[in-house]
Amino acid sequence: MKKILILLTICGILGVQAQTDEQEFAPYVINGVRSPVAPYFAYIRFYQGNNFGWGGGALVDPRSIVTSASIVAPWERIRVYLGGNNRDFMREHEVFNFTAHPNFDRFSRAFDIAVVRLVNPIIPSAEIHPIALPPLYNPPNSDLPFEHEEITVDGYGATTAQNQQAATFLYRSHQRITSQERCTAFFVLDTEQAFCGEDLDERSNVCFGDLGSPAIGTYRRNPYLAGIVRIHPNCGVNQPAAYTRISFFLPWIQSQILI
Ligand SMILES: *[C@@H]1O[C@H](CO)[C@@H](O)[C@H](O)[C@H]1NC(C)=O
Repeated sequence: MKKILILLTICGILGVQAQTDEQEFAPYVINGVRSPVAPYFAYIRFYQGNNFGWGGGALVDPRSIVTSASIVAPWERIRVYLGGNNRDFMREHEVFNFTAHPNFDRFSRAFDIAVVRLVNPIIPSAEIHPIALPPLYNPPNSDLPFEHEEITVDGYGATTAQNQQAATFLYRSHQRITSQERCTAFFVLDTEQAFCGEDLDERSNVCFGDLGSPAIGTYRRNPYLAGIVRIHPNCGVNQPAAYTRISFFLPWIQSQILI
């Protein structure tokens, strides 16, 4: 494994192409594959005194990032980084303020959603630009994503359940939306507000440090923000992870970003 890491470091971003099948499965975002640049991905660090933690978020307009409420509340301050798929080279963007959903419940994780606003709007580029929110066509797609739909989840989550370090490179998990029955067999949640995804083929999954990270679906081939990581199953690969359903919270998100 050490060899692979050194190889990745030397080859940098191009290293991804050089990997063999076996090397492709690195234990970041458990069993994930190296992620291409995810221009909407926000790396968020939160602080309380000398302690800190980290998670992800999704840039949804030039000034606004959607993330999990547990990433921002009740921490003293947060820092946001954007651009690229190598944590060491992401650029910090100054935070204006952040708002967790007023009904967020830390224990049940109900209403687990928050919006972070930047001081300066980003100038959209190939490297950094927003991801679309779920489409609001007629009939309202308030239950997107649908069962069996495919999502990709990017994150700098921990390497293994034992090693709680942020990964240097962004990793990606491919998952499919599970049935509501399978989801509620693992988590106590309201399926209007949340859904589950799981990778039955290659057993990739999210891990520590992936909370708030974006899950991207496609609607008529257009990528959109389907969910954000709400509960990782302690890095387990044989069970689903739970996501906040962005379509359900669209009115609240829009009320927050149009300010
Ligand atoms: C953040 O800033 C917006 C825009 O000025 C404001 O409407 C909102 O109340 C602020 N939120 C917090 C939590 O301070």
